Amino acid sequence: MSEQNASPIRHTLTVPLADRSYDIHIGRDLFEQTALWTSAIRSKQVLVVTNDTIAPLYLDQLLSHLQDFNVDTVILPDGEKYKNLDQINSIFDVLLEKAHNRTTTLIALGGGVVGDMTGFAAACYQRGVDFLQIPTTLLSQVDSSVGGKTGVNHPLGKNMIGAFHQPKVVLADVGVLDTLPERELSAGLAEVIKYGLICDLDFLAWLEDNMALLRERDEAALGYAIFRSCQVKAEIVAQDEKEGGVRALLNLGHTFGHAIEAHQGYGNWLHGEAVAAGTMMATRMSALLGWLSAEDVARVEAIFVAAGLPVNPPETMTGSDFMRWMAVDKKVMHGQLRLILLKGLGQAVITADYPADVLETTLASNA
Ligand code: NAD
Ligand code: GLY
Repeated sequence: MSEQNASPIRHTLTVPLADRSYDIHIGRDLFEQTALWTSAIRSKQVLVVTNDTIAPLYLDQLLSHLQDFNVDTVILPDGEKYKNLDQINSIFDVLLEKAHNRTTTLIALGGGVVGDMTGFAAACYQRGVDFLQIPTTLLSQVDSSVGGKTGVNHPLGKNMIGAFHQPKVVLADVGVLDTLPERELSAGLAEVIKYGLICDLDFLAWLEDNMALLRERDEAALGYAIFRSCQVKAEIVAQDEKEGGVRALLNLGHTFGHAIEAHQGYGNWLHGEAVAAGTMMATRMSALLGWLSAEDVARVEAIFVAAGLPVNPPETMTGSDFMRWMAVDKKVMHGQLRLILLKGLGQAVITADYPADVLETTLASNA
């Protein structure tokens, strides 16, 4: 392992967004370190939102540190297929039944699904209340809990209903990853690899060297991977909070990936799995454009395979299936689909300037 992860596993980063700046704490036993996060709670009112998988594991532990507050809880059904407006309404029901006011604080205890939904409910309730992110999957610790994208799926498109709403603090406790299923750990690694591919070749090389340790859940390796991922994301979000430009690079592989997730039925392919296969499609398309070598493509494929991730889209998905789902992508502008592609490894670009037949070949060459 390189010297970067020899340091003790406790990192704090700030997402610098003027009066909406907030800290990300990365470490172990962070629930107990209440000074890090309860200071971000404005009043006595708190609503913890979690799901029926995470509640038996971590809810009591969290509540034991909230005894000075009046806490209500919402336990959602687990799953991407429940990331919808019905569940948001069930959060509003409790907020209203329990008379939460504008000073209330919502706490998201869970993965990206719980985090995105809790954040969206917080963005909408009484036109916006505070929320904290306590991400419990690797994916949510390295990506979804940071940057303020919140929302739900629509049957016609992934994450199509939502709002930008920044949390007040993010608490990424590596200890909770002990109970994460292996498939979910791999899904999180897809987003970690993404940061290397878009802008940090040294990090990509570090990930190649440390993939086995990461999959064994070595705490120092995970701590460094979470830290570096959040650092890259914080820098990009600080430059372009609402995705007018550079933030779109964080969607490498997502245009193809969202189409896979929606087409397969939400939850059948994990988000990170779809991102891995989608990133391979973007990588192969970049090679067709002459921007990457065959060795580059093989290198990207090898790191996804080492992370335990798929490198091809579902065999049954046709080019026209992809086109149908991709037509509603949020990066469609003036009728043109902008894609995140790689000019080189560690050098992502957003472009609509590609020959249509190269996209068609990418979508059709399914294997
Ligand atoms: P998830 O929230 O569905 O969690 C994955 C599974 O792991 C679930 O079954 C969950 O109950 C379980 N789980 C969570 N923590 C656990 C733990 N510590 N121990 C045992 N089981 C645990 O999935 P995810 O991968 O965390 O998030 C995916 C979602 O995040 C997608 O909806 C995606 O669109 C969204 N996302 C959002 C952003 C953003 O910027 N807002 C970025 C990336 C992804
Ligand atoms: N996950 C992409 C973003 O936050 O912009």
